[in-house]
Amino acid sequence: MKVLTAYFSHNGENYFSGKIVDVEVGNTAIVAKKIEEMTGCDLFEIRREKPYPHGYRDCVNEARDEFVSSARPKLAETTDVSPYDVIILGYPNWCGTMPAPVFTFLEGGDFSGKKILPLCTNEGSGLARSVSDIAKCCKDAVVGEGLSVKGGNAADCDGGLRAWLKENGVL
Ligand SMILES: Cc1cc2nc3c(=O)[nH]c(=O)nc-3n(C[C@H](O)[C@H](O)[C@H](O)COP(=O)(O)O)c2cc1C
Repeated sequence: MKVLTAYFSHNGENYFSGKIVDVEVGNTAIVAKKIEEMTGCDLFEIRREKPYPHGYRDCVNEARDEFVSSARPKLAETTDVSPYDVIILGYPNWCGTMPAPVFTFLEGGDFSGKKILPLCTNEGSGLARSVSDIAKCCKDAVVGEGLSVKGGNAADCDGGLRAWLKENGVL
């Protein structure tokens, strides 16, 4: 079984545990790299061609505009998912669903017959609408049970992460 972890993550300023922090590695990237280490899967970072602003408020404003207009921004690069049986899809919860570049990634690929495992870091809203949005984008894929990780716990989520990977047969 071949597994790909494809993830989007925003570094720079973010808001968690009640304050604005400036991070070099985003929460979802931390978890995605743990999955790579645990499973030996391939890793692909979904990046918007035009990076999001570094500042938290500017980033939130741009993300909100994209959400409201259902934007599908261009990606810096894409990858062929055809060799993979399972795609672990990592993303932060933005506005109750996935960031716009993740929609671009899903709508631009052929996920038929693939199993997609949603992995969402967030500040408390959990997976929200993201799982049903993934299913809408990838009608012929099987969307498995998602894992929600509190962003501030990203560096410390090994136990729950390992259990989820085991339940889904990728560890
Ligand atoms: C533009 C934006 C929108 C967000 N919207 C939500 C939200 O609706 N619900 C929530 O729980 N967290 C929300 N968050 C918090 C992020 O989901 C959380 O900090 C996440 O762990 C960030 O992951 P990252 O560092 O990989 O980008 C938002 C953050 C940003 C920057």
